[in-house]
Amino acid sequence: MDRADAVQLDDRDPLRHVRQRFVLPDGMIYLDGNSLGSLPHGVRERLESMVDVEWGHDLIASWNTHGWWDLPATTSAKLAGLVGAGPDTVSMGDSTSVQLFKLLVAAARLRPERSVIVTEPGSFPTNSYIASSVAQLLGLTVRWWDAEHSPDIRTVLDDDVAVVALCHVDYRTGWMHDAAQVTAAIHDAGAITLWDVCHSAGAVDIDLSGWDTDLAVGCTYKYLNAGPGSPAFAYVHPRWHDVLDQPITGWHGHADPFALERDYRPAPGVRRVEAGAVPLLAVAAVEAAVDAFDGVAMADVRAKSLALTDLFIDRASARLEPRGVSIEVPREHRHRGSQGCLRLPDAYGFVQALIRRGVVGDFREPDRARFGFVPLYTRYVDVFDAVEHMVAVLDEGEHVRPENTARAVVT
Ligand SMILES: Cc1ncc(COP(=O)(O)O)c(C=O)c1O
Repeated sequence: MDRADAVQLDDRDPLRHVRQRFVLPDGMIYLDGNSLGSLPHGVRERLESMVDVEWGHDLIASWNTHGWWDLPATTSAKLAGLVGAGPDTVSMGDSTSVQLFKLLVAAARLRPERSVIVTEPGSFPTNSYIASSVAQLLGLTVRWWDAEHSPDIRTVLDDDVAVVALCHVDYRTGWMHDAAQVTAAIHDAGAITLWDVCHSAGAVDIDLSGWDTDLAVGCTYKYLNAGPGSPAFAYVHPRWHDVLDQPITGWHGHADPFALERDYRPAPGVRRVEAGAVPLLAVAAVEAAVDAFDGVAMADVRAKSLALTDLFIDRASARLEPRGVSIEVPREHRHRGSQGCLRLPDAYGFVQALIRRGVVGDFREPDRARFGFVPLYTRYVDVFDAVEHMVAVLDEGEHVRPENTARAVVT
């Protein structure tokens, strides 16, 4: 494989035209869309019109005339198609952490006779923090499933387990669970499933309905490209729509919000997951960002993601492994998300040196350099060139230069 081969792969790429839907700075190879997705064209215009016309001119009337009240629901319905969910099964608002809290409490309440929450020690920190807090609040215990050392989830399941909350794709290594299989095993044990799909939504052809999961949460600022701090979504399987009892009983989740009743009555369906006013400017950004997927089949997205990560493994094995770098990308396609991770001493300086060269990835403690491959805008030639920059950084010793090793707040 040489650079010309990579260019040819781009020429034949069925998603080639989609890259033009994004604002991508000249000369930058952006490999951090797994942290913050690029800005899709159309988002700025949508926000400008919402600010100038809807808020600036039409003011409060916009709740009715511009559909503000239903905007979270209509946007959720649009997004649902990208994650294999029915249009009336997704709700939007709050951060992933808050959605996780609401659904974890609700899940435990669906199994009141059981006392254990199962989660993974290596999940994203917010997931274990929230699991511990919910356990403390409800008098439950957390049981840790270390999938790396004990791959069969049945080893931690018994009649005490109320809910199992897992991250579909590991935020460090990109390792992906077989969600349908794990969900089935959890259901066999009578427990509720809650998947966090932050690192797969928009990059993997996930199928929340097909997995038969009870619940799921995910963010919209990574592969869904809706901008910093954009709202998270919550999925609830229809079998729980009329019984789900989530703890933040705000008026937006009420059956009749404008009746202004004293007592809470949950809205029918997934809308009961809403709590208070949803950040509508941010929801409008999600609505416009999802348009970047127009006419795009998620199967093509997945195929390109695997091809990009295959190329990364191939190039990194040839060029970086001989320089002492280890490659931490799951080799089996069925266990691979859409990112690649390299482990090396001085990984922080390595990432900073690459950023100076216009190749943007990120660092994760203690020694990981992480690179996200976004099928909608990452090109094969970007992968090829990025690895050559990595070689140059190592050969020139740029990763140990003081200007690259000084730590910033966000890594
Ligand atoms: C897997 C996972 N879950 C949850 C979160 C936290 O999301 P939020 O900041 O929206 O609460 C993140 C953030 O990156 C994440 O990677």
